[in-house]
Amino acid sequence: MTKPLLRVLAGEKLNRPPIWLMRQAGRYLTEYRQIRAKVGRFLDMCYTPDIATEVTLQPIRRYGFDAAILFSDILVVPDALGQHVRFIENEGPVLLGLKDDREVLEFDSDRFLGHLAPVYQAVRQIKKALPAGVALIGFAGAPWTVATYMVEGRGGTDHIETRMFAYSEPLLFGRLIDLLTEATIEHLSAQIAAGAEAVQLFDTWAGALAEPGFRQWCVEPARRIVEVIKSRHPDIRIIGFPRGAGSLYAAYAMETGVDAVSLDTTVSANWASSALQGRGIAVQGNLDPVLLIVGGTALDDEVDRLLATLGAGPWIFNLGHGIQQVTPPEHVAQLVERVRRWSRS
Ligand code: CP3
Repeated sequence: MTKPLLRVLAGEKLNRPPIWLMRQAGRYLTEYRQIRAKVGRFLDMCYTPDIATEVTLQPIRRYGFDAAILFSDILVVPDALGQHVRFIENEGPVLLGLKDDREVLEFDSDRFLGHLAPVYQAVRQIKKALPAGVALIGFAGAPWTVATYMVEGRGGTDHIETRMFAYSEPLLFGRLIDLLTEATIEHLSAQIAAGAEAVQLFDTWAGALAEPGFRQWCVEPARRIVEVIKSRHPDIRIIGFPRGAGSLYAAYAMETGVDAVSLDTTVSANWASSALQGRGIAVQGNLDPVLLIVGGTALDDEVDRLLATLGAGPWIFNLGHGIQQVTPPEHVAQLVERVRRWSRS
């Protein structure tokens, strides 16, 4: 029997949505914090297959989600390209190693895949350990979003420096996007070869660009990635997350060829039901992660609204962005139970 998550990604409308949550493994879980304290560095967790496997499985054991997502990070790609990444407590990622912000790295496929070999080993181990029925999702950051970290050297929210670069030197910026497109294809392909059954492309900062830039730096690279990945792995399912794309969500879904779009918190569920699901596009989302901190009837009421609006499918229940660190784990249990009790008919 095909796994529920994969059935939805093939366009099927199920009686209740499969559920998983972005950032379902992480600091809101005590069992994660224990391992994190022992290992010390976040990237060492990502590059140690036994640890990455254990941490991926923690939320599956606790909640019985319908999918596991590989424990890794979008910034392993610049790290493997030679732009060294560190994660600083309470500050986030810091990237070093480009001589200046206009330098574009060379792509050395062997070195890149060699650096990331422990990640693919983790995928193999997770696949073996997963309960039947639970799908394994691999992922990568989309080129635009990874480029914002590479250009600015750290996380941010407005990305003025990267937009200045893209708008003022589109040819040079295009070389960086092309490099990242190629690296992303190799990274996803290797995860799929190791056992990932679906992959998600995280374009967390897609909403920072005006329409022409969005089409050039978000839609076009995603279209290319989907085209090459599907030609190499015809059965793979691909989820796109162009966070903040607003009215361009439908264009992104149609033009990139992804099997589903993950909706951010701001997208209207009513609109998604008619403009996306109504045109055969599977959707994923889009509970506000802050309601998962709040819990109680505020959480229940919004879950019920989403079930009523998107429940006809094809739909995967998820958040509109990742779980917050301060989320009480019992609120996640409350959510899963409510979705599991529901039925369309
Ligand atoms: O459970 C999962 O969802 C799988 C693992 C996963 C992580 N990061 C683990 C992580 C995934 C899919 C990501 C994606 C990711 N990483 C994105 C795209 C999705 C999104 O949230 O927008 C982005 C932008 C990043 C980059 C990143 N990683 C930042 C900015 C930070 C620091 C902020 C923070 O939340 O700590 C990280 C660190 C990170 N990635 C942690 C985890 C569990 C926390 C590390 C720790 O233990 O300190």
